[in-house]
Amino acid sequence: MKPITLALLIAVSAIISTGCSSGKKSMNTSGTVSLKEVFKNDFVIGAAVNNGQINERDSGSAALLQTHFNGLTPENIMKCEIIHPEWDRYDFTLADKLVELGKKYNSPVYGHTLIWHSQLSPFIQKIQSVDSFRTFFTEHITTIASRYDGKVKSWDVVNEALNEDGTLRKSAFLNKLGEDYIVEAFRLAQKAAPNTELYYNDYNIEQPKKRAGAIAIIKKIQAAGVRIDGVGIQGHWRSYNVPMKEIEESIKEFAALGIKVHFTELDLGVLPNPWDNDAADVNMKAEYSAKMNPYAAGLPDSVSAKQAQSYAELFQLFLKYRKDVARITFWGVQDGQSWLNGWPIRGRTNYPLLFDRKYQPKAAFYKVVETKTKPADAKKSF
Ligand code: G3I
Repeated sequence: MKPITLALLIAVSAIISTGCSSGKKSMNTSGTVSLKEVFKNDFVIGAAVNNGQINERDSGSAALLQTHFNGLTPENIMKCEIIHPEWDRYDFTLADKLVELGKKYNSPVYGHTLIWHSQLSPFIQKIQSVDSFRTFFTEHITTIASRYDGKVKSWDVVNEALNEDGTLRKSAFLNKLGEDYIVEAFRLAQKAAPNTELYYNDYNIEQPKKRAGAIAIIKKIQAAGVRIDGVGIQGHWRSYNVPMKEIEESIKEFAALGIKVHFTELDLGVLPNPWDNDAADVNMKAEYSAKMNPYAAGLPDSVSAKQAQSYAELFQLFLKYRKDVARITFWGVQDGQSWLNGWPIRGRTNYPLLFDRKYQPKAAFYKVVETKTKPADAKKSF
């Protein structure tokens, strides 16, 4: 190599390394803006992961997960029907893989979920006696929580125990064990997993009546002298109707109980909802019609801009309460993998996340980054 060329190379690499180490702190080593770096002094940025991502069959997701996220939540594989398929049989294959992936990606795993009325294994329906049901309940929590103590950061100990009016949902747990099952679940989890954070997780608990129900649950757990570390507000909202006022009130009221607030399943769908509400009840289903699937050919700019604006307003709110808000987890990595393509109507094309079907950042991604950086910096770096 000629001396002049060598000198030029040294000068260029010096400029690059100065730029990376000082001016552009939110860049990762490949020079792209990284969500987890942008918000590293504010909150964890998590993503729910599916089987393909856990088995490392999806290189596009692997790259995004490592660049942008520092928390992993299993979308399905730690739920009862997968991890505990039969009375006396557990299957930890995928859960163990996820824990390994978390280590590899340097991303803690946020366990989801120990006690939930949905995705239960078929054997549970057949349990007749209260004593047998209690045995299942105790062993399920104890076995799973103790196996992963110190390996997962947290558990959603109880998920979706409430109705919209704040009363307790009629579930197998309520029917068989009575309303104390929630405190009991936390007590068992605390004993089995002393090094794991414990949360109550639900959707729509930003809404006043359901929020009051969640507050009553949390107070009851605390009054029993049992540990609860946080509350998970799921965050399945519609991008044209995000309940900002209720979310802000909720952060304040939950934080006042001395616990952390997590947004655990964030996505902002853009499609019409048949019932015009923000429910996330997986049992609600409706018929397909072309009218209900208006963006099959692509997302119009106006809808994309509205979504980006809503995401920006949400992140501004999260930043305002950064001392109380510990984590923002998106329910998926890119739009094509979202549960909202199949719920509540199968076969629709939804666009709820920050990355598109080609793993590219969307307008919403840039607007979220711009809540912390100058617009020019957010755009330039991709
Ligand atoms: O595993 C089977 C597979 O064998 C089969 O071929 C395929 C055919 O449809 O179905 C697969 O199971 C699906 C499973 O996701 C895994 O992909 C179920 O049908 C489907 O119902 C299930 O949906 C999950 C849903 O929970 C079910 O309760 C979604 O992926 C998951 O995103 C969603 O997550 C919930 C949270 O846990 C709690 N809060 C609400 C949130 C959204 O509903």
